[in-house]
Amino acid sequence: MHPISSKIFPNFDLGDFVLREKQESDIPDFFRYYSSPEVSKFILCEIPQNLEEATRELRYWRGVFYQNDGIYFAIADKKTNQMIGSIGLTSHNTYQSRIELSYDLACEYWRRGITTRAIEVVVKYAFETLRVNRIEASVSCTNIPSKNLLLKSGFTLEGTLRQHRYHRGTFVDVYFFSLLRSDLKNYAQKSLR
Ligand SMILES: CC(C)(COP(=O)(O)OP(=O)(O)OC[C@H]1O[C@@H](n2cnc3c(N)ncnc32)[C@H](O)[C@@H]1OP(=O)(O)O)[C@@H](O)C(=O)NCCC(=O)NCCS
Repeated sequence: MHPISSKIFPNFDLGDFVLREKQESDIPDFFRYYSSPEVSKFILCEIPQNLEEATRELRYWRGVFYQNDGIYFAIADKKTNQMIGSIGLTSHNTYQSRIELSYDLACEYWRRGITTRAIEVVVKYAFETLRVNRIEASVSCTNIPSKNLLLKSGFTLEGTLRQHRYHRGTFVDVYFFSLLRSDLKNYAQKSLR
């Protein structure tokens, strides 16, 4: 266990963008993009309805790092420092050596390869720093962009969890993906150009 004071949140450079710790000043930007119809329709969790709920959400995800449950980054524009997305690892099961990946990005920034680059960095962090054996990700079966993104990033589609998540009044089928430490050679060939 790390005492809170000894933990230093890392930053990573993605070229025009950075992965950095979430800040209270990000809350309005986070709320705007995250609650937009384009992004929220694929998020299988409760979406904040106002700035107060967004504040609780952002603090929860920031706390993941200090509770040794993983790490959750803001994706920010390097020039303006504006938060445009999130990516991170949670539910760190240290005994089983596995962790869950998730991400989201403001729709104005889609299809520029930003999340692909962010996944490369976060995957490296998971295997090299957190020393996990397995990274998991689950996506709604209707979320074709996210499914394609994971396949492009070297993840293996393991199967479908039928009606696994309750979302907006209905039970949703979910694709379950993984990337193993032993897949790394394959991952490097597919993704680390
Ligand atoms: C999923 C999401 C994060 C993708 O981010 P992104 O930065 O646009 O993704 P990239 O530009 O890195 O795209 C990588 C690959 O993903 C796939 N992809 C991305 N958007 C796609 C789309 N609209 N349709 C089909 N495939 C898509 C493609 O294979 C793409 O590679 P290509 O551009 O070479 O064809 C973004 O669409 C998003 O935030 N969606 C809403 C929230 C969400 O779904 N979060 C995940 C919940 S599991």
